[in-house]
Amino acid sequence: MLRIGVLVSGRGSNLQALIDNVEAGKLKARIALVISDNPEAQAIKRCQKHGVPCKVLRREDFPSKKAFEEEMVRALKEAGVELVVLAGFMRILSKHFIEHFPERVINVHPSLLPSFKGLEAQRQAVEYGARFSGCTVHLVDETVDGGPVIVQAVVPVLPEDTAESLAERILKWEHRILPQAVQWFAEGRVSVEGRKVLVEGARYGTLPVNPELEGF
Ligand code: GAR
Repeated sequence: MLRIGVLVSGRGSNLQALIDNVEAGKLKARIALVISDNPEAQAIKRCQKHGVPCKVLRREDFPSKKAFEEEMVRALKEAGVELVVLAGFMRILSKHFIEHFPERVINVHPSLLPSFKGLEAQRQAVEYGARFSGCTVHLVDETVDGGPVIVQAVVPVLPEDTAESLAERILKWEHRILPQAVQWFAEGRVSVEGRKVLVEGARYGTLPVNPELEGF
């Protein structure tokens, strides 16, 4: 079974979606380790409740970013992690970290990339006046929110939306596409050709817009 490591910084609702799908037997992966860079993260309580191994590593406790990342790599490797999932992890990882897990670090971002990279993507979409936004699961490379796209889902932006109401609408889809992407890796169906991520057997281009998720 695919062993995943999940990096978190806060609320951990995407982590919860992974836990729930594992417990339901839909996501055939094992959460081998969760790392939180924030000792106050709600995600930690979710781990405790569900018996998921969790470690807190604070950046401030290390002399450099490199040393912090090396400790994360060490812990992830020790846990036998094959796929690293960033689920609301609010730090930028260096090339050095990513090279330890080639094409096996993924992130969920609350916009349709390449629009609205960086922080507060939902607020950016509302302030821009976009009519649609959504979420993206993508491979992580050394650019910020710039790696190849694995799966996206689209939601409308309504005239009365606030950043919060849009975030809530988007989050529901994050909770579906993230476990789906992990399951695709678990099934060994993902290959990468330059910027293109191919999922063997996945049905693309279904209308109106959203991906045809396989049970998620
Ligand atoms: C999610 O909306 C995730 O897409 C976003 O933070 C939230 C974490 O929620 N991530 C980013 O903005 C990364 N650039 P969660 O802790 O409840 O999963």
